[in-house]
Amino acid sequence: MVLFQWKNDYSVNVRQFDNHHKKLIDLINSLHDSMLTGKHQIVIGKILKDLLDYTRYHFGEEEKLMINHKFSGYAEHKSQHDKFVAKVCECIQRYESGALTMTIDLMNFLRDWLKSHILGTDKKYSEFFNSKNVA
Ligand SMILES: [Fe+2]
Ligand SMILES: [Fe+2]
Repeated sequence: MVLFQWKNDYSVNVRQFDNHHKKLIDLINSLHDSMLTGKHQIVIGKILKDLLDYTRYHFGEEEKLMINHKFSGYAEHKSQHDKFVAKVCECIQRYESGALTMTIDLMNFLRDWLKSHILGTDKKYSEFFNSKNVA
């Protein structure tokens, strides 16, 4: 069974960001699959790095748009992004040093964080961006 399934409820009404979120969901699912099928550490390490890279890219694009349109919730939103990036960086370091193994708890953490960030934080910009003709 797939760990994380996209639902229309997750839409933030900004097409490019919905696409980014779908890609992040795909990467979390790939990580989950690689854990279940016991993939080599190098393969898992590569997916973790892809997840970090794409997360940084996506957060950067959201932040750019918030800055460009002077969104009042920017600082609080960015601090959530920064904390998550720091956490994923820490996971990668611990994984590479052998101090961390892939577990379902970690997969659930990634899924739950992204889900609650989209639903609770990203959705706060939907109406604002739509009012600036960004959709
Ligand atoms: Fe965000
Ligand atoms: Fe997002």
